[in-house]
Amino acid sequence: MAEQDIIIHPEEDIVDPWTVKSSSDKGVDYNKLIEKFGSMKIDEELIKRMERVTGKPVHHFIRRGIFFSHREMHHILDLYEKKQPFYLYTGRGPSSDAMHLGHLVPFICTRWLQETFDVPLVIQLTDDEKFLWKDLTAEETHKLAYENAKDIIACGFDLDKTFIFSDFDYVGGCTDFYKNICRIQKLVTFNQVKGIFGFDDSTCIGKVGFPAIQAAPSFSSSFPLIFGGHTKVPCLIPCAIDQDPYFRMTRDVAPRLQFLKPALLHSVFFPALQGAQSKMSSSEPTSSIFLTDSQKDIKDKINKYAYSGGQATVEEHKEKGGDCEVDVSYQYLRFFMDDDAKLEQLRKDYTSGELLTGHLKKELITVLQKLVGEHQERKAKITDADVKKFMTPRKLNYKY
Ligand code: TRP
Repeated sequence: MAEQDIIIHPEEDIVDPWTVKSSSDKGVDYNKLIEKFGSMKIDEELIKRMERVTGKPVHHFIRRGIFFSHREMHHILDLYEKKQPFYLYTGRGPSSDAMHLGHLVPFICTRWLQETFDVPLVIQLTDDEKFLWKDLTAEETHKLAYENAKDIIACGFDLDKTFIFSDFDYVGGCTDFYKNICRIQKLVTFNQVKGIFGFDDSTCIGKVGFPAIQAAPSFSSSFPLIFGGHTKVPCLIPCAIDQDPYFRMTRDVAPRLQFLKPALLHSVFFPALQGAQSKMSSSEPTSSIFLTDSQKDIKDKINKYAYSGGQATVEEHKEKGGDCEVDVSYQYLRFFMDDDAKLEQLRKDYTSGELLTGHLKKELITVLQKLVGEHQERKAKITDADVKKFMTPRKLNYKY
């Protein structure tokens, strides 16, 4: 079976680039997803090897299974050991200026990878995609790309090694990029994208052709200024697992173009405040903590909406204990509390019933107020001129 031929059964979780729905309150069954998508689990052996090769502990996202699945990460480590080059590619669909906590996850990991492996990075802002899929004008999504770039830059990327681009700017402006898009489009049939993305006869042709645009940055020849026309610089893509369909398609066409298949690191979804059945979504404001929320908003939202895995009464809670697997405050702490020992203590005490939900919420509020507050401070310092620098095609500074 080719990587892209995936059969979806109706009773299963739905995971594609547009929908994430699970019938279980524990959220999507990620082990099943690995099987269905045909990717590999990030296991202890890979984690140990990453630590050995880089000489430092892996990011807690990797340690805690938030990045849980991969394709060919061992190959990337082989290259790194041989001091051979690779680059990172990730992206964002700019559908609103309200970025939320979940949106930070791939960027935090990407920043860590850039710093750890000291490699160049390209970040695609798919303003074209959001124009095609959402009720927004092309001018609006183009503008949103620039606004989102500030939040992305605020994650701490290195200007010397990072190129951020809007598709509207770059697809029209770079011949090599557009050539690659057409090369990919020539190899993928309507029938194939119907199967991979669920398109049908009434899907507009803009959407039908779009997957090639998300695929193209996986190939170094799409960035002549960065890689000087080298077609064989390997690529590693950190992304949420819902983006995998695009890259299954990419990996399928790569050998036919004599390009390399990109490697991938997949993350879980960031749960909505209401629980893990759905992911955090900007279009559901009460499901989300936004990067623009005030300290008070954060406190109020967590207290009001964060789904509790605790029991109905204090007595019952003390007796039976809380359920960390469904408790949203605990789940968010797994993403954003650095301190392993403290997190483990909270888990134990909540599970035994000693700690009440209110306590977990209080811990979470402190962590998130700090995280969002610091993000806002960094973002406030980023000027339009800084954004322009990141978004100007140029030679990046890397060693090979
Ligand atoms: N389609 C993604 C979104 O809607 C944006 C994106 C483009 C992306 N290229 C990517 C995400 C590469 C991860 C990796 O958010």
